Parts: sequence; C-alpha cells; structure tokens
Amino acid sequence: MSEIPFKNPGWAGNVGEYDLTEEQVRGIDFVGVRPLEGGHAAGSATYPYMLEDKHPEAPLFEGPYEVRFQKILTRYPTKRAALLPALNLAQEIRGHISPQTMDRVGELLELSPAYVRGVATFYTMYNKRPVGRHLVQVCTNISCNLCGGQEVLDAFLEHTNTEVGETSADGTFTVIEAECLAGCGFPTCVQINSRYFENVTLEEVPKIVAHLRESGPATESLEGEE
Ligand code: FES
Repeated sequence: MSEIPFKNPGWAGNVGEYDLTEEQVRGIDFVGVRPLEGGHAAGSATYPYMLEDKHPEAPLFEGPYEVRFQKILTRYPTKRAALLPALNLAQEIRGHISPQTMDRVGELLELSPAYVRGVATFYTMYNKRPVGRHLVQVCTNISCNLCGGQEVLDAFLEHTNTEVGETSADGTFTVIEAECLAGCGFPTCVQINSRYFENVTLEEVPKIVAHLRESGPATESLEGEE
C-alpha cells in the first residue's frame, strides 16, 4: 500500500487529487482494527458507560464514587452546573436514571425534582429505563442509512433476538435506533456502550454480537479516574 500523505481526508473515491482507494481512506489504516476491539482513538466518550454490577438501587456516590462526585463539584462554580456529570456518574452506577435517582441527585445538588427531570429527560444519552449490559445504538440517519444502516439495525435485532428498545431475556443486549452519531464519514456507525464501531457491515454483525456475548463486563470501572 502506498504511503498515505495525511490522515483521513474523507472519502473522495479514486478520482480527484487524493487518488486514494476506499480501503486506504476507510480501512484499517485509518480506523484501526475494528470492530471487534472497538477502541479506535476516534471513539467517543471517555467515561465508562455503566458498571457490570450496576443496580438500580445501588447507593449513589459512596466510597470511590463519593470522591469522584466531590471532584466533579470542584470543577464547577455552582452545584447546578455539575448536574450533567453527576447524572453521568449516577448512570454509571445504576445503569439508568430513574425518577428516584433524579430526585436523589437533585437533593445532593440542591435542585428541584422538576429541574433535574427537565434536564435528564432532554438528553437521550441518559437511559430513563433499565437497559441490557450492552446498549447497542445503531445510527439510521442519512449517511448510515445510505450505506445499509437499516439492514445493520435489523441484523442486530435478529442476532440478539430482540425488538427495538427491548432487552434480551438474558439481560445482555438492548438494541435501539439512534439519530446521527456524528460518525457520518464511517457509516454505518454503531455505538455500543461508550465505544464507536465504525463502517459496520451486515456481515460483521454476528461477529460483533458473538464477541460481546463473550466479552464479560461492558466496561471496566475507571475507579478514581475522575
Ligand atoms: S448519519 Fe450516521 S453517524 Fe451521522
């Protein structure tokens, strides 16, 4: 393979000044060995999505999480400004943000339940109900759909034996449809927990599902990382 003059100029086909093959632009030279590892440097999110032993009634912000919660508070001028990262931390511990969790976070940040609910329900990245150990979000927006996003979604549903939004009987998977994940240059883009799997094809779906079934915890805890 010829030397790449610069990184990731975007797919221009075999015409134009770049004269790059699709493999050079979209292949492993740029996006790493994925999707099975899923950990390419371009992956989104840096915090663990949720703990393996998440429990909807787990104590909030105790032990190392209390330390992280206090660190979060030091980064913001007011308690109210710390609401989003506090909810992130709560979701990491409990797996989803229930109304009770919203109320507890509100108490800790001295915010009204209505205010916390207004914020938490605005953002789709906060799960408002329990999800499986692996939350699979398949983008079916324009770029991804032109490249088979709908078929990829259908394949994930088939191989996890679920309907959209349903959690598999063993609690391993919840598959949902996502709006644009901002990985439009690498369709179909799939976010699984906090990691991006890019250029996912129909053929790769069974391998990804099998890998996730065997892979144990959805993420490791980054205890004390905050
Ligand atoms: S359209 Fe799928 S990531 Fe943007």
